Amino acid sequence: MPRVFSGIQPSGSLHVGNYLGAVRQWARTQHQDALYCVVDLHALTLDIDPADLRRRTIDTAIGLIASGLDPDVCTLFLQSHVPEHTELSWLLECTASYGELRRMTQFKEKGAGQESVRASLLTYPVLMAADILLYDTSLVPVGDDQRQHLELARDLAIRFNGRYGETFVVPEAQVPAVGSRVMDLQEPGRKMSKSAGSDLGRISITDPPEEISRKVRRAVTDTEGTVRYDPADKPGVSNLLELLAAVSGERPEVLARRYTTYSALKKDVADGLVELLAPLRARVRELSRDPGEVAAILEKGAARARALAEPTLSRARAAVGLTPR
Ligand code: AMP
Ligand code: TRP
Repeated sequence: MPRVFSGIQPSGSLHVGNYLGAVRQWARTQHQDALYCVVDLHALTLDIDPADLRRRTIDTAIGLIASGLDPDVCTLFLQSHVPEHTELSWLLECTASYGELRRMTQFKEKGAGQESVRASLLTYPVLMAADILLYDTSLVPVGDDQRQHLELARDLAIRFNGRYGETFVVPEAQVPAVGSRVMDLQEPGRKMSKSAGSDLGRISITDPPEEISRKVRRAVTDTEGTVRYDPADKPGVSNLLELLAAVSGERPEVLARRYTTYSALKKDVADGLVELLAPLRARVRELSRDPGEVAAILEKGAARARALAEPTLSRARAAVGLTPR
């Protein structure tokens, strides 16, 4: 059975982009020997308050369980609980080149305009490659924004294997056909994200129904007045159609023909999202009342993950010529 692995930043509560672009797929692939990880070490590449990090890490784990990840079916854990990730990351840093890391879009975007950039922001995708390669992963379900990082993970695996002999499985990205790039409702030229944009542009899986409706109603469209799926010319309307497509399973082009006004489209998008997210929101509330249960799930997950990670790391250590311990 192909091994599945994916990771998510500890941003706190998940937004609709995370859910439709990634986590909903994770719930579908969890039966195929899957591991899902909250990448708390990755969060340290940017300035984050320690108490915030702690809280958001648990909230993210809660969001994943609420989104349908069943800890009895898949392995759910925190990256920092499995120290093999950072050790393998070092071996892969000795495989990656400065030039290829400097060219990563996310590095250029997050580093732009900063007077000081943490070294770890540059090496971030190498740690991500270590996350993936550590588990002999074949499939990595992610949103569109992670394609370039996945390509790097593949390059590093191939280069390492070429240099030291077959050690790693070369992974493949799995990007959903619709919902892979949910845009900000206020600035439809930018993807929906926790770290940028206003609250109004982002729908969280824990937003109450009236909040979801308000945000969709206020979503930026255009002045043309006709409903058409055309992401380049009509990013706002197209984003709404994509959201509806992701909710209903129909194609955005087909859905577009059913609407003559933006307000009717918005009403259906809002209703669809409210219905989709209601059970998730209820489950978040339940789990938040029981931090002990969440901690136990993560502890069990880390133990399972370590058992899988250790042999891969030993193989990589031996391949590069480190003396066995
Ligand atoms: P992050 O919160 O950046 O760690 O992202 C977690 C997962 O959600 C990754 O697989 C991303 O590709 C995906 N994702 C994040 N933002 C979006 C978005 N706006 N649309 C679709 N997928 C997204
Ligand atoms: N970089 C990913 C993001 O920002 C998160 C991530 C870290 C990840 N390690 C991973 C995703 C391994 C997939 C596999 O969304």
